[in-house]
Amino acid sequence: MGRFYITTPIYYVNDYPHIGHAYCTVCADFFARYHRLLGDETYFLTGTDEHGQKMEKTAAKEGVPPIVLADRVVARYHELWKRLNISHDDFIRTTQDRHQHGVLAILQRLMDAGDVYKASYRGPYCVACEAFFPENQVTDGKCPDFGHPITELEEESYFFRLSNYQEPLLKLYAERPDFVLPESRMNEVRAFVEGGLKDLSISRTSITWGIPFPGDEKHVLYVWLDALSNYVSALGFGSGDETKFKTFWPADVHLIGKDILRFHAVYWPAFLMSAGLPLPGHVFGHGWWVKDGTKMSKSLGNVVDAWPYVEEFGADAVRYFLLREKPIGTDGSFSDEALLDRINADLANDLGNLASRLTNLLERQAGGKVGPGDGSLKARAEQAMERYHSAVKGLSPRDALIEIWSLISDLNKYLVEREPWAAPGTPGALATLSEAARALRLAALALTPALPASAAAITNALGFEGMAFANLRWEDGQRIPARKLSGLFPRVDKAEYFGKVRANKPTGQRASEGKMEEEKKQSDLSAAAPQAGPAAPAAPPVAAILAEPVAERISIDDFRKVQLRAGKILEAERVPKSNKLVKMIVDFGDERRQIVGGIGKKYPPEQLVGRTCPFVTNLQPAKLMGVESNGMIMAGNIEGEPILLQFLEDVPPGSKIT
Ligand code: MSP
Repeated sequence: MGRFYITTPIYYVNDYPHIGHAYCTVCADFFARYHRLLGDETYFLTGTDEHGQKMEKTAAKEGVPPIVLADRVVARYHELWKRLNISHDDFIRTTQDRHQHGVLAILQRLMDAGDVYKASYRGPYCVACEAFFPENQVTDGKCPDFGHPITELEEESYFFRLSNYQEPLLKLYAERPDFVLPESRMNEVRAFVEGGLKDLSISRTSITWGIPFPGDEKHVLYVWLDALSNYVSALGFGSGDETKFKTFWPADVHLIGKDILRFHAVYWPAFLMSAGLPLPGHVFGHGWWVKDGTKMSKSLGNVVDAWPYVEEFGADAVRYFLLREKPIGTDGSFSDEALLDRINADLANDLGNLASRLTNLLERQAGGKVGPGDGSLKARAEQAMERYHSAVKGLSPRDALIEIWSLISDLNKYLVEREPWAAPGTPGALATLSEAARALRLAALALTPALPASAAAITNALGFEGMAFANLRWEDGQRIPARKLSGLFPRVDKAEYFGKVRANKPTGQRASEGKMEEEKKQSDLSAAAPQAGPAAPAAPPVAAILAEPVAERISIDDFRKVQLRAGKILEAERVPKSNKLVKMIVDFGDERRQIVGGIGKKYPPEQLVGRTCPFVTNLQPAKLMGVESNGMIMAGNIEGEPILLQFLEDVPPGSKIT
């Protein structure tokens, strides 16, 4: 057992998260969950990068202070991570005090090392990348990385003596060739450093939205020095309590996109060397998701949101697709077609059918008991696990999943060959079922990092809970009741799905660049749950909302007559003969109530159980289709469709809403 610290990049908050951001976070979540299953003490950090010129400009365009914009986008990140079942241990924001302490502590160390000086600088500057570029890298007034427009900027600036670190960095790459992964990216980075390093400007006077330079406050710190320091500030570096820092630093893996490799593989280790801090284990630059062969970009209007796909198919399906479809190091194309194929072939067919068939047979023939086997699958399952572990250690979730699917496919063949249904209840049939159950249990455990909810459903159905790699024995399992499992991954009817898409129902692709602005206005209008709704596609245009006549004004005392409380839905079922009404048992802490809501068309009962929502609790009881309702669930009404409100944080049942 060891310890493991993994980070994602901290995301800019000048726009909402899209599938590329979700990808990096899902990959990091996969590794974090895997290490927890190994028994490692694990820390998984993600967060947001909130300072800088880009943010200042977007906020000004939206007419709000940067922090208001940041709060709004951060709420969206929290929502998406929750919905995607991301298990991060911490979420750092660069606007937090703890972060500022960490950054200033790093800066102090750079200054103590004599690596910071003040000078005047003039050169080509890219606002979008927030970076100066050497003259020889700029062609046609465009930045070398993305072709953004370049402007000439003269600034008095503090500089970091990056040039002093060319040799130490080259030595690092020579001694630890896996410092940057995949290998091809190491070559890019080495070539860049061999080309020569100039000192790096680490302050700006042209902006105010950032951390002021101590003692010279017309300067704010360069956003990348600010941002990179998050990896240690989140651990309490510079805060007075460095327990976490001492436990977890250096990070094992900084998982990042290939576009921000230079910052992580050149600047960050140079800062750390100067600060006298240990260097991270690996910087892994993953490839990108592209849409229809083109890079996603706001101006092309082809940015894919993760949220609607998660709503439609569930977190596990989206997670699986992202992890399985493309190798982590290279680019891959996102398409609905490919997603549906993975859901239908791999999840519904291979895994879902195996799980339901096996648990069914076990229940019918063995009274749900996984009895002794004959060891016929042990070697095959162990071989799959060995290959799986080595794929994860090689940081390749895709290869790890391929190994498990190969086992799943062999299990399906094994059942067909041995036909345990032909002579039900015989010792041979029972041994076959028990062997297959053990192998499936192992496969499900290995799938937990990718499909946490479904893998848990399978292991629980097979009678195992709280499993970890360490406590697993092939022989375990006698007299353990298996429960029948069905409908784990429903097949998606492609014709129906694409019909819906053609009829302009929500898909993941964003409608237009103006979306963020529209959403902002809508969220400002619905003060009850500013960020809780789904992403824009289901929302009407702002004008439609504004056109609603304003209702008669009421006094605050009138409003206070309405008692609102948070309730946790414990049970939900459809009211017979109604396609709209759902009967719920709701926990309000000190009491449980039956409440009927007209939300069943949009929300099947099984999706409601476990949610905590706002309820009106002092309405007169009423009967709806003969069923008594003692309160009302609150929902937005978007073109006649109910959209449930939810809290951004966990709220105990019974909490008052005022
Ligand atoms: N704020 C910086 C990172 C600072 S880390 C100290 C930043 N933010 S970002 O929001 O622009 O990008 C965050 C991550 O998302 C990057 O790793 C980037 O590679 C990734 N992606 C953005 N678009 C992507 C795809 N289309 N596909 C996969 N990942 C992509 O950079």
